[in-house]
This record gives sequence, C-alpha cells and structure tokens, in this order.
Amino acid sequence: MTVVTIHIYPYVTPQCMILVTGGAGYIGSHCAIRLIEEGKDIVIFDSLELGHKETVDTLRSVSKGSKVEFVQGDLKNPSDIRSVFEKYDIDAVVHFAAYSQVAESMKDPQKYYYNNVYGTLNLLSAMKDARVGKIVFSSTAATYGEPEYVPIDEVHPQMPINPYGNSKLMVERIMDDYSRAYGLRSVRLRYFNVVGADGRIGEWHVPETHLVPNVLKSVLSPGGVFSMFGTDYDTRDGTCVRDYIDVRDLIDAHILALSYLDKGGETDYFNLGTNDGSTVREVFSECEAVVGSKIQVNECARRPGDPAVLIADNQKAKSVLGWEPKHTLKESVETAWSWEQKLN
Ligand SMILES: NC(=O)c1ccc[n+]([C@@H]2O[C@H](COP(=O)([O-])OP(=O)(O)OC[C@H]3O[C@@H](n4cnc5c(N)ncnc54)[C@H](O)[C@@H]3O)[C@@H](O)[C@H]2O)c1
Repeated sequence: MTVVTIHIYPYVTPQCMILVTGGAGYIGSHCAIRLIEEGKDIVIFDSLELGHKETVDTLRSVSKGSKVEFVQGDLKNPSDIRSVFEKYDIDAVVHFAAYSQVAESMKDPQKYYYNNVYGTLNLLSAMKDARVGKIVFSSTAATYGEPEYVPIDEVHPQMPINPYGNSKLMVERIMDDYSRAYGLRSVRLRYFNVVGADGRIGEWHVPETHLVPNVLKSVLSPGGVFSMFGTDYDTRDGTCVRDYIDVRDLIDAHILALSYLDKGGETDYFNLGTNDGSTVREVFSECEAVVGSKIQVNECARRPGDPAVLIADNQKAKSVLGWEPKHTLKESVETAWSWEQKLN
C-alpha cells in the first residue's frame, strides 16, 4: 500500500498592500500609523527630503504583525516608483508626497510643478501599468484661491493664486482624465488647515510655516517671539480666520475614502474642514491657555496673498463619506504642544 502524505498548509489569501507616498512626513505618517493599527500591510515611499527616518522607525515599532515596508525613493525618478509596483502587490495608493510651501512656490515655481505634477504623473503612470485603480490624493484649499464666498463648498471656482495651488489643481485635472480614460478612480481631499498630533508622531517641518507649531516653538526657544502677520483684516479681531482640522479627523476621512473606493465609489472630491473658523488671535490665546503662560508676540504687517477668511463647507464629506470631525481646537493644540516638547 502506498501512503500518500498530503500536507495541508493553512491557506491565507495574501493581503494586498496600501502604498503611502510621503508616509515619512507629517500627515502621511498619521495615515500610516492608522493603517498599521488597523492591521493593514503598507509600503511607505518617501525620499526623506522633508520626512524623517525616525518617523519611519516609530511606525515600524507600532506594528503588531502587519507588514511595514519602507522604500526610500523619489517620485521624480520613474524607476523608483515603478519598482514598488513590481515588487509589491499594491491594492490602493494614498498620495501625500509633495512640496507644500506657498511662499517657496512663488519664488521657485518649477520646483513645484516638477515635483508635484511630474512626480504624480510618474506615480499615476506606474499605477496604470500595474493595473492599480484606486488613489486618495492630498489636495488643498489653495486650489480655490481668493474665496468668492465662505464657507467654501466643492463647486466654488478653483482659481489658485500661487504655483503650489496650481500644481495641486493640475493633478486634480489629470486625475479626472485618468479616471475617464483608464478607469483609475480617485478621491481628492481638499484640506484646510491641518493641526494636532497623534503623540507618538507629530508635525515636524523644517522650516515650519504653520501657525500652531510656530507659536509653540516660540515658547520653547529662549527669548522667542511669535510674529503675527496682519492685524487689520475685516474680521472680528482684525486677524485672518482659518478652518483648523485635527490631523486625526483628517485621517478618518482618508480611511473612509479608501473604503468608498473599495466599494466601487466614483471619482470625487471633498473638502476637509470643520465648517467653522478661528482667528489667529483666537488660536494664539488657545496656545497660551494650553501652555499656561503668556507668549511674546510681535504684530507685523500683512503677508501678500493671505485671504481674510477661509472656511470649508464640509457637508459633502459628511453626507457621501459619512465623515464627522470630532476633535476641538483645544485638543489639537494640546496634542501639538506635547509633541512639540518631545521634539525640542
Ligand atoms: N499640512 C497642511 O496643513 C496641508 C494642507 C493642505 C494640503 N496638504 C498636503 O498634504 C500633503 C502632506 O503634507 P505634510 O504637511 O504632511 O507635508 P510633509 O512635508 O510633512 O510631508 C511630505 C512628504 O513627502 C515627501 N516627498 C516630497 N516629495 C517627494 C518625492 N518627489 N518623492 C518622494 N517623497 C517625496 C517628503 O520627504 C515628506 O516626507 C502634501 O501633499 C500637502 O500639499 C497639507
């Protein structure tokens, strides 16, 4: 009698991975940490030009068994991103990698078009060839330009007033065409002002251009004084009004957007903000309350190109994606403050 031994291996469907471009940066790392905690296998693709290796190490340390791969590469090099799709089984992409400083984009527009537009084209082309058909993209309120009305809804005209906003709008248009012609579906999320931190990771830009970390940095640097630009706007206290959205709420929307695409959702775009605004003075006071002391301030002239009021109408993200921002500005500033102290 011949005995045939049959080895029965547990059959596990290999889990497809999610590619997070710019995952070593501020918002991308917050998305990565959430995906890891949800047990997803991810590939982080980042040049580390602006992101941090330490952030990637933290992300890896959080994993309880799911794969966290890191590829150091530049979207401007087509072969860098193509090799990711050759090596890994990618199901969807969350695309954060970009340059995002408005003032720098005014001085050096080519840098922005080359990185943000050409870099994204390389990504989309690699996705198309690898037959990866879902992408969530970090767009911005800067695609609207000077608001004609507030709150700004998604049908508000998109007329950017700087190359950064132009570069993001160009990518939105390219994504529409890729969706129509190749069936590569996208969700474009237009962020307003992102604040706050997870605590293990946080906002770490060099140089820092955002309000909350800059106020908090001025507390931690000896003799630090915060420069407040523009105190003569036609607003309730003379300073600009912005819509501050907590990074954890922002990431909720990315997770919902991925699941929307998984369920076959069509290409679409959504504002991510709170439907409410705070003035620079109000944010500054919140920082003082959280820090527990007076912060030195120097009131300066307006900066060119700063609209008085930017507030998102967020109804569409609520109704289509089922998104609901939860965190208060106070909570965002508290988490930013504890992160800033860690960073210092
Ligand atoms: N922070 C905000 O308030 C805000 C608001 C609106 C939109 N956004 C958008 O959100 C995204 C993330 O912003 P962030 O604040 O986390 O920025 P960030 O600079 O912290 O992160 C961007 C990451 O992308 C990487 N990167 C840039 N170009 C790359 C390239 N060619 N190849 C590979 N990696 C590259 C950088 O090294 C960095 O780690 C950006 O697309 C930005 O335009 C941010």
